[in-house]
Amino acid sequence: MCGIVGYTGLGLLEGGADGTPAATRHPLEVTLEGLRRLEYRGYDSAGVALAGPGQDHIAFAKKSGKLSNLVGELEEHPLPAATAAIGHTRWATHGGPTDTNAHPHLAADGKLAVIHNGIIENFAQLKAELVDAGVTFRSETDTEVAAQLLAQQYAQTKNLTEAMAVTARRLEGTFTLLAVHADDPLTVVGARHDSPLVVGLGEGENFLGSDVAAFIAFTKEALELGQDQIVTITPTSVAVSDFQGNPADAKRFTVDWDAAAAEKSGFDSFMDKEIHDQPHAVADTLLGRTDLDGRLTLDEIHIDEAVLRAVDKIIVIACGTAAYAGHVAKYAIEHWCRIPVEVELSHEFRYRDPIVNEKTLVVAVSQSGETMDTLMAVRHAREQGAKVLSIVNTRGSTIPRESDAVLYTHAGPEIAVASTKAFLSQITAAYLLGLYLAQLRGNKFPDEIAALLNELRDLPAKVQTVIERGEYVRATARSMKDATSVLFLGRHVGYPVALEGALKLKELAYIHAEGFAAGELKHGPIALIDEGQPVFVVVPSPQARHGLHSKVVSNIQEIRARGARTLVIAEDGDDEVRKYADEIFWIPKAPSLLQPLLAVVPLQIFAMALATAKGLDVDQPRNLAKSVTVE
Ligand code: M6R
Repeated sequence: MCGIVGYTGLGLLEGGADGTPAATRHPLEVTLEGLRRLEYRGYDSAGVALAGPGQDHIAFAKKSGKLSNLVGELEEHPLPAATAAIGHTRWATHGGPTDTNAHPHLAADGKLAVIHNGIIENFAQLKAELVDAGVTFRSETDTEVAAQLLAQQYAQTKNLTEAMAVTARRLEGTFTLLAVHADDPLTVVGARHDSPLVVGLGEGENFLGSDVAAFIAFTKEALELGQDQIVTITPTSVAVSDFQGNPADAKRFTVDWDAAAAEKSGFDSFMDKEIHDQPHAVADTLLGRTDLDGRLTLDEIHIDEAVLRAVDKIIVIACGTAAYAGHVAKYAIEHWCRIPVEVELSHEFRYRDPIVNEKTLVVAVSQSGETMDTLMAVRHAREQGAKVLSIVNTRGSTIPRESDAVLYTHAGPEIAVASTKAFLSQITAAYLLGLYLAQLRGNKFPDEIAALLNELRDLPAKVQTVIERGEYVRATARSMKDATSVLFLGRHVGYPVALEGALKLKELAYIHAEGFAAGELKHGPIALIDEGQPVFVVVPSPQARHGLHSKVVSNIQEIRARGARTLVIAEDGDDEVRKYADEIFWIPKAPSLLQPLLAVVPLQIFAMALATAKGLDVDQPRNLAKSVTVE
């Protein structure tokens, strides 16, 4: 949650006194640009703090509400020029989203400022200690405790890095902290424990950010920090140490997408753009995964082949949309590999004493790579002896670093809070994993795998077709903007698609939406059906096995007979279903297991268009944040 930016540059010093190339950027502008790109992580309030030569106090501004409120405040009351800056966009935990609770938090002498992402669990105890020592608190936040503690330590050491290390050792919970001090206006110090922080490397300038989006407009060179590390940046240096003050290593990497990928590119919203990115997201995730003989080569999977051959159970752990992607993958992996697959919400997995051992492969799915619930589940699984393979979109994030292997999706940055292209690319990556296991374990012949890969490669063009048919979905959504409840039904792989359709509508349009397994209807949910109740139904292909198609058609008839308005997603040429649909959204023909990649697209467009028709912000729905870094 919360987005964090730090910057230090020689711009103000006109050329760099020591001959190093000078950055010409203004720290405040860099910080605001970073916050603009990180606002998806939280948008309850925003703030900045600046340090500059000759200034004996930190200059700061903070405002509740979206970043635009802070920008307005800065236009009315400009801050002085600076050499170092930190900035924060908040998703409130302790203390409501007010100006006072917004970050930065300053020490009593006004010389030190701190921003924070995470939750300090022992804040009450530390606060009591500080109050006893005469410290006065202004906010209700846990962060201010860290600020006051850091100020106390700084008073003793006069060294911000050392003070940060002592402070970090005293804190429990999760945190990324950044601090600036008026006495050292070229330095920003950060600390991380179970919360993300990456370093951007520049010339005559350096950056810190919750993720690379914070500095992608300025540099693609980055450092991935490890757990429990302190980083001190100046315009010309980056020093990393552990919480004991010992020098530590950080891994360098180059960001493989550019700033334009994180722009709206003419679309009304990031979500709309990301829906349109989906054909590329699938194609790019498939790219470069085979050798010259057409055999799958997932080079990133550094888990011994013998270990993978011996796997007797797979557990997929994930949350939200990523969990639904895992749910879809379960059908394919079980079918192709004949290995039992369980799908479990990460936050439930950890607390139910799961049966996990060295023959269990745990697959952690996460767009951000930072979801705390999933990270904790990864740690728990590894402690129990399981191998963990993560399917992640964001490089430099924590979950891949703590996994035995990672399969990256190549969806590019996903900025809208509602996940779209990540879902399609996660299914694609999980399917690649399933086929790879089938190849390794000999469950499928090479030509069967090649045929399935070719079917996957046909998908991007079909997804494009569904997107191009989107206007009818949008018009239907606009006509339903006053709906108060929408239900979603599906069977087999259509069931997680129904769940995902309902989640999209809930989070974007704030209306009651529920997804059901169509077969479950008669066991209770059918009582919800009343005259005019809109129900989306994901219809399997008429070619699907086990007569699935006719069973779902019967379900449509059952709800229609009770007054439901049926909104049907069906395969081109499915004449049978046409008779029972009030509205029909056609998708191209595809093998049953691949249909989710097509069937979900009208549901994404529907939720986005309905929310837009209601005048809601589709990129930043209320109460949510993109990256859920608290448990
Ligand atoms: O970054 P992750 O994929 O781990 O995030 C998991 C969920 O928080 C995420 O999918 C969430 O459900 C989305 N907002 C749904 O659109």
